[in-house]
Amino acid sequence: MLQAIGEVDSVRVTTLLDDYAGYETPFYAQHGIALLVEISSGGLCKRILLDVGQSAVPILHNMEILGLDPGSIDAIFLSHCHYDHTEGLVDMLKAIDREIVPVIAHTDIFRENYIFDPFIRNIGITAKNGIEAIKAAGGQMVLTKEAFEIAPGVLSTGVVPRRQDFEKQGIGTYNLVDGAISGDKIEDDLSIVVNVKDVGLVVLVGCSHAGIVNIVTHAKELTGIDRVEAVMGGFHLIEAPAERIARTAEALKEMEINRVVAGHCTGLKACAELGRVLGDRFQLLHSGKILNVP
Ligand SMILES: [Fe+2]
Ligand SMILES: [Fe+2]
Repeated sequence: MLQAIGEVDSVRVTTLLDDYAGYETPFYAQHGIALLVEISSGGLCKRILLDVGQSAVPILHNMEILGLDPGSIDAIFLSHCHYDHTEGLVDMLKAIDREIVPVIAHTDIFRENYIFDPFIRNIGITAKNGIEAIKAAGGQMVLTKEAFEIAPGVLSTGVVPRRQDFEKQGIGTYNLVDGAISGDKIEDDLSIVVNVKDVGLVVLVGCSHAGIVNIVTHAKELTGIDRVEAVMGGFHLIEAPAERIARTAEALKEMEINRVVAGHCTGLKACAELGRVLGDRFQLLHSGKILNVP
C-alpha cells in the first residue's frame, strides 16, 4: 500500500477515441483509445491524456467537436507500448505545442513487440515516436515501473501483479532482445487510479493486458480503499475463452462497481456478457462518451 493517498474533488473522463463512434454522434472512431482525464481539486483543474490512439487525426477531430483545446493537456500517460495506444504521440505533442509535457510510461515501453500472426510485425512504438522525436516535440519521458502519485489522489498503478489464474492467458506477442525471441507478458501495462472524495476509486485502463480483475484488485490494495465507483477502458477480452469472460463478469459484479464502462478491445461477446451480468451498471464505451464522478 502507498502511504497517505490524497483525494480529488471530482473527475471527468471524456473519451476522445474508441473503436466505436456511438449511435447518432458526429465523432470519429478508430481501433485505439484515448481518454481525457480532467481532475478537479480545490478549484484547480489538471488534465491527463491516457493514451493517444494510433493517430492524432480522429482525436483532434473529436476534441474540436467537444470544444476541447489540445493546449490544455498537462501530461500524457501511456498505458503500454502497442501502436493503437501510442502511435499518435508525437502528433499529439505537436498539437499541445508546449515546451515540456511529461509523458508517463513503464521503463520497457520502447522495446520492440512482435506478432507473427497473420504476419511478422512490430506492434510496439515505431521510429516515428522514438525518444528523439518525442523530445523534439516537447515530450519529457517519465519512465518508472513503480506505483506513484502523479498528483495528490491520482495514481499510476505501476506493474500490476498477475494473480488470477483465469487472467493468465497471453496475447501472443514476442520480444526480440540480442537476437533471442521470447514470449512477452506486456509487463508495461499500467493504469490510472483516481481517488474521488466521498465516492471511491475510478480505475482507468488502456487494454488491461494485466487482467481487469488483477488491475482493480491492485488499485484497492495500493490505496487501501475498497469502494470502486467506476472502471473504464478496454478489457482485452476480444479473443478470451467464454470461461474467462464469465469469471471476469462475476468478479466485477462481486466488487459492486457502480459503473463499468467497457469498449476498445473488450469485444462483442464480453460486452454482451458484462451487460447480462451487470445490468444497468454496464455501459458501452464510445468516442465522445463522458464519465462524471461524482
Ligand atoms: Fe494492447
Ligand atoms: Fe489496445
